Amino acid sequence: QNYDEIYRPQFHFTPPAHWMNDPNGLVYFNGKYHLFYQYYPEATVWGPMHWGHAVSYDLMHWEQLPIALYPDALGWIFSGSAVIDTQNTAGFGRNAMIAIFTYHNDEIWKSGKKNTESQGIAYSLDEGKTWVKYDKNPVLNNSGEQDFRDPKVFWNPSTQLWNMVLAVGDHIRIFSSPNLKEWKKESDFKPDNDFKDLGFWECPDLFPMTTSEGTTKWVMIVNHGDKCPNGGSGTRYFVGDFDGKTFTPSQSSLWMDHGTDFYAAVTFSNVPDNQRILLGWMSNWQYATKVPTEVWRSAMTVPRQLELVASKNQFFLKQSLLPVFQYNQNELYKAIIASLPFEKKRLELEQAEISFATEASDFRITLSNSAKEQFQITFADGVIQMDRSQSGQVGFSEVFGSKIQSMAVPEKITSVQMLLDASSIELLINDGKYSMTNLFFPIQPYSDISITSNSVQKIKNLTINAIPSIWK
Ligand code: FRU
Repeated sequence: QNYDEIYRPQFHFTPPAHWMNDPNGLVYFNGKYHLFYQYYPEATVWGPMHWGHAVSYDLMHWEQLPIALYPDALGWIFSGSAVIDTQNTAGFGRNAMIAIFTYHNDEIWKSGKKNTESQGIAYSLDEGKTWVKYDKNPVLNNSGEQDFRDPKVFWNPSTQLWNMVLAVGDHIRIFSSPNLKEWKKESDFKPDNDFKDLGFWECPDLFPMTTSEGTTKWVMIVNHGDKCPNGGSGTRYFVGDFDGKTFTPSQSSLWMDHGTDFYAAVTFSNVPDNQRILLGWMSNWQYATKVPTEVWRSAMTVPRQLELVASKNQFFLKQSLLPVFQYNQNELYKAIIASLPFEKKRLELEQAEISFATEASDFRITLSNSAKEQFQITFADGVIQMDRSQSGQVGFSEVFGSKIQSMAVPEKITSVQMLLDASSIELLINDGKYSMTNLFFPIQPYSDISITSNSVQKIKNLTINAIPSIWK
């Protein structure tokens, strides 16, 4: 396996072959990060779901491992999480790795009945290599809901119980358990005065975070399958309080990423030093099964380190790259630029990180190639827009190239960071306060960059670093 096909990401995780969607069972154990993922090993489109598996020491380089969980008589294996049972609460063994996942029974689904989805558990005593499903599955049965899935489980030290957040139709349900086998409903979370028309709720997460001033708040992540601001699926979060039973938001939700290609994002469990690391699926249900890749379909985003920041009684998450993505790089270009325009040709940008500080209040970044394909990012009047209508192949989907995506940035832009891989861009603005992730499929890699402005503008300290392939 060379991972060298056209559009194959060079520093983002992809399965060797076939279909992938959500990250699952993200957990750190004995020095390794485990990534399980929604996987259909027989085609490059979605189908009966398995959990694929890979491990990494640094969250950049991955070792592919055999499939961890296969469908069985109870159903396909949908999304879920994994924990390390340090106190042996479930009785499978001290430090057992335990996966909590959704069984999706497609026959019931097709028959139109509602009790399609339930939660099951499985354990591994050899660091996730081999798995035994609990013989009394399911551990949490469906009480007549059509959509009842994506359990994220964590140990709550203040109640000495496990908590689970689960997506149930148009809200999140919270459960507790002493042993991962018996679950008690605690509450339903559906905020008042919320957006009216967001699509179905999926893949929740809930975890505490402490600001640098020492304030602790809980963050609830909710993914929405459809009708997000730039179309299709997306991720938002609430900041609030949690007492082991009820989550109470302190403010309205914020979008985790404003691009179209950031979904099903959840965080790793059990990471040392209270670090919170987020990973998303870099696609959108509007066209995920149609993007023009062969051999494999879909990549994960780069992992993003989260930090909770308080500003004027509001809280927000800042996303930054892990150090391994910052130091591992080779400089392609560096400049101290005072005024625009800036133009650089044939740098081979397809595996690069571009960053600059700026004092400009309006500017446009264009990435392009000699085939005249281009990807444009425009900043003006407090709004960033991404235009991929001329970015390359767009015809595989009606919506992929048709809509200009936008994100409000109601403050001065001071820093811009862009991670470019063979078919994606992740944009982090103002030290990761705002992010926007997009796919593109040019017939040739983008090699040129220009930064222009309509007025007299300044940017400074521009660097372009090549990022070596993780597969070589
Ligand atoms: C999110 C999702 C989950 C489900 C999984 C199925 O992308 O729809 O809700 O568990 O994908 O593959």
